[in-house]
Amino acid sequence: MERELALEFVRVTEAAALATGRLMGRGDKIAADNAAVGAMRRAFDTVYIDGVVVIGEGEMDEAPMLYIGEKVGAGTPPQVDVAVDPLEGTNLVAKGLPNALSVLAVAPRNCLLHAPDMYMDKIAVGPRAAGCINLDAPVEENIRQVALALGKKVEDVVAILLDRPRHEHIIKELRRLGVRVKLISDGDVSAAIATAVEWTGVDILFGIGGAPEGVLAAAALKCLGGEIQGRLVPENEQERERIKKMGLKDPEQLLFMQDLIKGDDVIFAASGITDGDLLQGVRYAGNNATTHSVVMRSMTGTVRFIQATHRLDLKPHFVARECSVTHKAQRFAEA
Ligand code: FBP
Repeated sequence: MERELALEFVRVTEAAALATGRLMGRGDKIAADNAAVGAMRRAFDTVYIDGVVVIGEGEMDEAPMLYIGEKVGAGTPPQVDVAVDPLEGTNLVAKGLPNALSVLAVAPRNCLLHAPDMYMDKIAVGPRAAGCINLDAPVEENIRQVALALGKKVEDVVAILLDRPRHEHIIKELRRLGVRVKLISDGDVSAAIATAVEWTGVDILFGIGGAPEGVLAAAALKCLGGEIQGRLVPENEQERERIKKMGLKDPEQLLFMQDLIKGDDVIFAASGITDGDLLQGVRYAGNNATTHSVVMRSMTGTVRFIQATHRLDLKPHFVARECSVTHKAQRFAEA
């Protein structure tokens, strides 16, 4: 993929962040998500790719936009797979909590794992500890390996994981070892990326989160030289069948970087929505808004942070107007 595309993809995540950032703290995650999805969908129309959404908002009958299989882009080469999460952390935006992002990853056609919307067990680290982790090994072994790779004492290692009852056994073990633990309410894409960004102070991610988020995190970690391993966690026979249909013979096989992202060419872009460890959230002031984004390419390993100022009067499509209408309609339908 041409490197110029990287900037085009940032425009797409910026558009989603600008639209949904307005709805921070309103307690309405559906409206926030709708705003991000609509803005991202519109922004894609201007990008010169022949894209197919492989990770998106759901199946065609579940999602009006950015559904799996939807064509995005202007329809010109290159042919690419597109993975999107227009709003990663719907609750985070609804409550005004840190680390909500708009994210996407793009790779040549058939290079992204078409991860279904189910859970994935994950372990992730940054470049210095890449090659030292094993999802099937006990927590203690992974922690000791990471401590060794980072030249730290076990008690100085920082592990991050979603604060969920399903992770109680991991949290208990980390506390027994004396590891410093960071529990987050949502947003394990940002958490996985944090393991590869020194200033966040995070060393390793454990636990079960969304499978689509696992592929998006893998794209970022591939660019950053980190590592993630995952295993899909089907919860019933239907989910097991779904995995087989997408081409994995063993639904519970251990997935390595090359299974999540094939080849060497992936671009990852993210814009901050609320302030976070990696990116600042959107700021609005009258007619202007600023966004903070990151874009990375695995081919060169270049990581660019981009701070942009937007004139909202010149970009009326960036203002989240129609989302409250959509949401009202949705509430009505749900009542
Ligand atoms: P949404 O943006 O869809 O709300 O997802 C947020 C998130 O926290 C992800 O980062 C994570 O992978 C997943 O939800 C965890 O799922 P659950 O809330 O069911 O534990």
